[in-house]
Amino acid sequence: MQVLRIATARPYKVLIGKGILSDAGQIIKPLRNYNKIAIITDDQVLGLYAKVLKDSLTRTGMEVCVFAFPNGERSKNCGILKEIYSFLIREEITRSDLIIALGGGVVGDMAGFAAATYMRGIDYVQIPTTLISQTDSSVGGKTAVNLDQGKNLMGLFYQPRLVICDVGLIQETFLFREGVGEVIKYGLLADRSLFALLERGEMEESLEEVVARCVEIKGKLVSADERDQNRRQLLNLGHTLGHGVEKISNYRIPHGVAICIGMAIMLSACVHNGLLDPIIYHRLLKILEQYNLPSTFEEAGLKELVKAAITDKKRLGDDINIVLCKDIGNCIVQRIPIDELYGFLKKS
Ligand SMILES: NC(=O)c1ccc[n+]([C@@H]2O[C@H](COP(=O)([O-])OP(=O)(O)OC[C@H]3O[C@@H](n4cnc5c(N)ncnc54)[C@H](O)[C@@H]3O)[C@@H](O)[C@H]2O)c1
Ligand SMILES: [Zn+2]
Repeated sequence: MQVLRIATARPYKVLIGKGILSDAGQIIKPLRNYNKIAIITDDQVLGLYAKVLKDSLTRTGMEVCVFAFPNGERSKNCGILKEIYSFLIREEITRSDLIIALGGGVVGDMAGFAAATYMRGIDYVQIPTTLISQTDSSVGGKTAVNLDQGKNLMGLFYQPRLVICDVGLIQETFLFREGVGEVIKYGLLADRSLFALLERGEMEESLEEVVARCVEIKGKLVSADERDQNRRQLLNLGHTLGHGVEKISNYRIPHGVAICIGMAIMLSACVHNGLLDPIIYHRLLKILEQYNLPSTFEEAGLKELVKAAITDKKRLGDDINIVLCKDIGNCIVQRIPIDELYGFLKKS
């Protein structure tokens, strides 16, 4: 098992290992003497892993209650949030209790937001069960709920007390491919050997190491810039255009797949603007192909895509921050006028 430390204002550990879900009780018990634990999950994960977690917690003498909502992005809304609050009140959860988010990014974002706001904030632990949530959303404390007008528009920064990544849970899932985009992103941002490992197609057999590398890179950026004012924005590589893809496809194209298209368009533009060696772009395309991930978006023209992207919350008045790639391990955040984004990308 690997143990990483995230050095935010209130630091916490990320434990990464295979089969550690069944040790959750022993791991969580020493954190604090919690009276009761509220597990929040979705109806799919409920049937897969809730029992193992619940048994592990009850073995250490903790009282446990469970709430599950329908799985999928559509549940990331205020109606379900209200149901979570009602459940917490019904179960008489107080500030001396703990919430556990057991699931993918949707559960993590929703349960994290509920933990941040219920009774002005109670402790929570993330137990992510997808590749995206293990490598990305469970670490860093961004919590969010979608509004009718767009994704993640209501949110808070609220760090968990602990993150437990059992890589055994993600090994077999059909969703694996959807998370590969985020791993590629970490490779491009900061890790030549991770990028090379992806090229060699060795990801599946090196999952513990891969998740640890991603968490380490994210942890460093989050520790340096907890509230996403500067360096942390590097994590948005491929995301501005990716969010445009998600939006135009009406969220049919999942986040992890959409950002692959976003990264490919951005790296191609970097090549054509003389910032990046074309070899890196072609290496990216090869990895995408290897994992059957797209690099183009046929459903909309570049103009429409840019329009959808600039309504993104990364917009700063008339400017927008984009992430440029100059080399593997050398990406920068660049603020440009919105009017210039299309011209920059059009060159590609
Ligand atoms: N907070 C952040 O920093 C951050 C970062 C990236 C993404 N996100 C958010 O995360 C969400 C995407 O996360 P996701 O891809 O994990 O989606 P998700 O939570 O919707 O999970 C996808 C599906 O997989 C199922 N599932 C989960 N674990 C499983 C397992 N081990 N085996 C089989 N099925 C399983 C779920 O029930 C669900 O149907 C988006 O809402 C996105 O906005 C947040
Ligand atoms: Zn992402």
